[in-house]
Amino acid sequence: MTSQTIPVDPFDFIVFGGTGDLSERKLIPALYQRQRAGQFSEPTRIIGASRTKLSGEEFQAFARKAIDEHVPEADRDAREIDAFIARLSYVPVDAKTGDGFSELAALVGGSEAVRVFYLAVAPGLFDDIAQQLQGCGLVTPASRIVVEKPIGRSQASARELNDAIGRVFDEHQIFRIDHYLGKETVQNLMALRFANNLFEPLWKSAHIDHVQITVGETVGLEDRISYYDRAGALRDMVQNHILQLVCLVAMEPPSSLDADAVRDEKLKVLRSLSRINGGQASKSTVRGQYRAGASSSGAVKGYVDELGSESDTETFVAIKAEIENWRWAGVPFYLRTGKRLASRVSEIVIEFKPIPHSIFEESTGTISPNQLVIRLQPDEGVKQWIMIKDPGPGGMRLRHVSLDMSFADSFEDRNPDAYERLIMDVVRGNQTLFMRRDEVEAAWSWIDPILAAWEENRQPVQGYTAGTWGPSGSVALIERDGRTWHEST
Ligand code: BG6
Repeated sequence: MTSQTIPVDPFDFIVFGGTGDLSERKLIPALYQRQRAGQFSEPTRIIGASRTKLSGEEFQAFARKAIDEHVPEADRDAREIDAFIARLSYVPVDAKTGDGFSELAALVGGSEAVRVFYLAVAPGLFDDIAQQLQGCGLVTPASRIVVEKPIGRSQASARELNDAIGRVFDEHQIFRIDHYLGKETVQNLMALRFANNLFEPLWKSAHIDHVQITVGETVGLEDRISYYDRAGALRDMVQNHILQLVCLVAMEPPSSLDADAVRDEKLKVLRSLSRINGGQASKSTVRGQYRAGASSSGAVKGYVDELGSESDTETFVAIKAEIENWRWAGVPFYLRTGKRLASRVSEIVIEFKPIPHSIFEESTGTISPNQLVIRLQPDEGVKQWIMIKDPGPGGMRLRHVSLDMSFADSFEDRNPDAYERLIMDVVRGNQTLFMRRDEVEAAWSWIDPILAAWEENRQPVQGYTAGTWGPSGSVALIERDGRTWHEST
């Protein structure tokens, strides 16, 4: 048995928004995988709750379909699926009127087991649900609440949401999920930095020239028109996922893996980010929006056509960020993310400084700086680019090659989805990979001035053809500093 399969004590897992998209695509498949891994003890129960009027059997049928469609065929085991489905029940609830909450309370009963309330619903319902749970006595010391982004659209609205949840649950019971923190390679970043002595001495401005973080997606709006057009790439990806990656790259070594030790260090990074205000925004940020073009599936519409109305929402953003502390002063962090880009690639590139002096003649070839490339997806792995001598006689010729560690080649095990790990961390009560209130609010306090500057300066979105790496302004942003984006393929 591996550490992934240590069974946990029985628990009740209640999913609000149980019939929604997140539940179907992520939560049910993840819970099923944990069942298959042998992690559940009896009598673990999973309860769907939402406004849709369904019977228990109908919810079970919904879950079967979700497993069929979203779990790879090789992982679908008829016996395990039946055992999983037998755990499921359903209660229709209305968070506004309170209908159904007493039925939910009767079902969950006086159990002292860990109780997880997963809010896979719009943030506008967080307050109501928390109040209803409290009103019907469902909140026990062993209860935990999980909330999904977006946690607010600004620091002020994030505070309101945090206050609302905080009136009912203590901070140690609140799990703010950022699924990027559950990704294997993202956690591996901590192992790489703090379980090796090789990198840490070099991990600072004396040796690092700059850092690049790219999260490229090929998808467009999908079915999220109303959410996405109000959010845009800065709120949707940078405020949470990308800033969390910045924190993990830039934080000081925490004193332990204890949740608060790690989160204290991440918070310091967020607070050290140099504010991008007013005029600075047009130099340090680029907004883009995709136009018609091509994706792997063929010709695709532009954003405005997909949306069906005019819009100024950015589907791409590139930012030159700076961290004002001893370790990182003078080391830019170039961040970019967008929809309908050339490929689905997420990676972190650490580019080291050039060697201080070359003993080689120019004819031996260019000496490229060392790069550490941490690939989060799709093919997770780490590459360390170094200079070597080209083998063979004929004099000294230099070549840039990579030492490659592909996870798929090195490890046979299935790479669990981020949600599997994060859900089990909630059940175990481990908050290390979840965002603390102050982190979320500090992240907004860096995002808010950028949003304000864009509005004030009426900073336009620059068009880019779907299937490319974003607008030319993004290339200019980094090339102005004499650097180039790492070619992500
Ligand atoms: C979500 C965003 O948080 O992350 C989506 O709201 C985005 O817009 C998604 O597509 C990307 O996640 P992943 O795991 O596919 O990189």
